[in-house]
Amino acid sequence: MSQFLSNCTADAMASAAQRLIAGDLVAFPTETVYGLGADASNSQAVARIYSVKGRPNDHPLIVHVSSMDRMGDWAREVPEYAIALARSFWPGPMTLVLKRSELAGDFVTGGQDTVGVRVPDHVVALALLEAFEKVGGKGVAAPSANRFGHVSPTTAAAVIEELADYLSKEDLVLDGGACAVGVESTIIDCTGTAPSVLRPGAISVEMIEESTGIKVTESDQEIRVSGSLENHYAPMAKVSLCEVPVAGQGFIAHSSYVTPDGVIRLASPNSDEEFARILYSALREADAQGLSEVVVVQPIGIGIAVAIRDRLVRAANGR
Ligand code: TXA
Ligand code: MG
Repeated sequence: MSQFLSNCTADAMASAAQRLIAGDLVAFPTETVYGLGADASNSQAVARIYSVKGRPNDHPLIVHVSSMDRMGDWAREVPEYAIALARSFWPGPMTLVLKRSELAGDFVTGGQDTVGVRVPDHVVALALLEAFEKVGGKGVAAPSANRFGHVSPTTAAAVIEELADYLSKEDLVLDGGACAVGVESTIIDCTGTAPSVLRPGAISVEMIEESTGIKVTESDQEIRVSGSLENHYAPMAKVSLCEVPVAGQGFIAHSSYVTPDGVIRLASPNSDEEFARILYSALREADAQGLSEVVVVQPIGIGIAVAIRDRLVRAANGR
C-alpha cells in the first residue's frame, strides 16, 4: 500500500520529487484527471506505470512539464502553430503531440517518432513538476491513474480505489481535491502542416482554430492512442445512451430532465462544464451502488460536450 499525502506543502513536494528521482511512482492531481507519474527519463520507473495500470506497453505516455520552455527538451521541429497553442492554452487541459527529441525514449513514446507533452493547470501538479525539475528531473510521464480501460479518477480516493492493490509502499498519492475539468486533455497532433485532434477535451476545435488561425484537419496518421480504443472509460455498470431509465437503473442527465419513479439519480449537472466535472464520479457511484445499468442523456452541441459524448460512447461499448 502506498503513502497518502493530503498536505501538499513545499517540503512534501520536495520529498515527492525525491521519490520520482528514486524511480518510485507519484500519483498527482491535475485539472483534468489524476495522473500516475514516473520520471519520464527512467525506463524502469516508466515500466512500473505499465504494470500498475495493466496497460499494454506499446501505448505512449504523456510527458508533463512545468512550462512551455521545457517543450524543447522533449520535442524537435516544433511548428509555429504548436507554439501558438502552447501560449494560448498552457498551463491547461491540452496535450501536444510533437516530433520527439533524443530524450524521449521508446519506453515513453511506445516506439513512435512522436511524444505527447503537457503543462497541467493545477497548483499541486505544477509544484511537483517544479520541485522535480529543481533536482534535475526533465519531465513526468503520467497516464490517468486508473487500471487500463477503466474510468479515470477525478479524486485521490478514486486513485486509491483503482490502484491501492498495485502500488508499493514507496509510491505516493498526492491529494489535491476534485479535478476542475473532469475529462482528459485534448490531444492535438502537431506533426503535420495543420493541427488535428486525436482526442477531444476542454480545448475545443473552435478554440484551436481561433488560436492558430488554421483549420483543424482530420488525422490521417495511424497513431496509437489507447484513449481512442472503442471500449474505454468504462464502469462495471452497463452504460446506455438512447434509452429511458426504468426503476432500479442509474440516471445521469442535465438538471432539466426529471427523474422517473424508482430511478436512481446519480447526477443533475446545470451546465456542460459541470457535466464533465461530475461524469466520472457519477459512473463510479453507479458501481459503488452495485447498479447494473446507467442511462445517460448526452449533452448536445459543441465545446466540452464533444468530449463528454466521445467518452460516453466508449463507456457504452463496455468493458
Ligand atoms: O488529461 C490528461 O491527458 C491526463 C492527465 C493525467 O494529464 N492523462 C491522460 O493520459 O489521459 P492517458 O495515458 O490515460 O491518455 C493519454 C493518451 C493515450 O491514449 C495515449 O495513447 C495518447 O495520449 N498519447 C500519448 N502520447 C502520444 C503520442 N506520441 N502520439 C499519440 N498519442 C499519444
Ligand atoms: Mg487514460
